[in-house]
Amino acid sequence: MDKILVYGGHPLNGTVRVSGSKNSALPILAAALLTREPCVISNVPDLSDIHYMLQILSHMGASVERASGVVRIHAEKIKTEAPYDIVRKMRASVCVLGPLLGREKEATVSLPGGCVIGDRPIDLHLKGFEALGAVSRIEHGNVKIFAGELRGATVNLRGKLGPTVLGTDNVMMAAVLAEGTTVIESAAAEPEVVDLANFLNKMGARIEGAGTRRIVIHGVSELHGTEHAVIPDRIEAGTYLVAGAIGGGDVRLIRADPTHLGSVIEALQKTGYSVETGADTVRVRGNGAPRPLQLTTEPYPGFPTDMQAQMCALLCQGSGISVIRETIFPQRFMHVSELKRMGADIALDGHTAVISGVGKMSGAPVMASDLRASAALVLAGLKADGVTEVNRVYHIDRGYERIDEKLIQLGAKIERVKA
Ligand code: EPZ
Repeated sequence: MDKILVYGGHPLNGTVRVSGSKNSALPILAAALLTREPCVISNVPDLSDIHYMLQILSHMGASVERASGVVRIHAEKIKTEAPYDIVRKMRASVCVLGPLLGREKEATVSLPGGCVIGDRPIDLHLKGFEALGAVSRIEHGNVKIFAGELRGATVNLRGKLGPTVLGTDNVMMAAVLAEGTTVIESAAAEPEVVDLANFLNKMGARIEGAGTRRIVIHGVSELHGTEHAVIPDRIEAGTYLVAGAIGGGDVRLIRADPTHLGSVIEALQKTGYSVETGADTVRVRGNGAPRPLQLTTEPYPGFPTDMQAQMCALLCQGSGISVIRETIFPQRFMHVSELKRMGADIALDGHTAVISGVGKMSGAPVMASDLRASAALVLAGLKADGVTEVNRVYHIDRGYERIDEKLIQLGAKIERVKA
């Protein structure tokens, strides 16, 4: 297993290009199953999660061609079963359920296991499918859903921890070919949901209200192929903004979408960093240690849970007391124990982390766990004394395209050691 060595103390300066969004590309690639015609999707990031999704789609019978960031998918005939050995590697494969149900009125997908950020139930996905007339059952570790026909319905997808992003995606993809109109209340409003709705509408769907808590889908009889460019990855962008703040210097992102980064930019400005935005650029200047901050993760447009670990790494480097409340995945603190190995002072109390800034941290061997926790450890190493050795970097490669190369391009001293 590869590891990444980060030699601390090198300021970051320069320009980095933001890749296409992983969390937009995954459901959009699955949505290509909804038509027998070819779809061409561009600005697709080169990530292992994308690779797994393409493997699943081709296993199900779709023809899949990839040339750098452009993917052509032609699902003329498809099987309705997704293979366990690939699905188990990536929870997001659950988003093939909606398109299979929409097109073939049946689907069998292995249940997504839990993962380090916590239990990953799909009860809300099934609630939406059942509202459309489907029947679901769990057997031998698979979820099986089938429907004689799908009829539009009104369904509230709010769970005890708020809206569901992939649940909203899945129900939208099942409803586009249903008879009649479906209304999703308490829908997720993330930019990735909007990007999926835009893709589906380009295929001939009739979806209104994406980006609000109430999405209306008027069923149509069939969808056709289309072309689409995936939006920029706002979490990758936010990660590099935090890198610029921690590393110090002057970092400019290009091919970004500043309108998706409001809460992240606000948090960085509150901690004392200057952040300027252009049409598709964001610039951060790291000028010393962060001021303390009180932060709560919330559904979009609130502060994203996927940026929580990165902000935690930043706040450790300041002084004073910061508090982070994680309301989406209450157990999402895998990074805390590893940051403490680097000298951080963090007390966990349920879903709240109380951070006492320690200023300088010290490099240490640390273990990557979930995608964003791993990125946070690399960021912490940028400023730490000495070398930080991040093991199991395959977690990072799931969601960050060539993170070592991009940081080196900004002046970081980083080495990827092939294990
Ligand atoms: C998406 O996951 C993202 N993944 C996650 O990003 C992100 O953290 C999450 O949304 C929240 O923004 C992709 O888009 C591929 P949810 P998703 O359903 O849709 C509970 C990353 O780092 N819930 O919005 O799976 C759930 O347990 C990943 O890129 C139910 O209770 O998340 C959680 O507490 C990590 N029942 C909350 O809702 C359900 O049926 C939000 O989960 C579904 C979810």
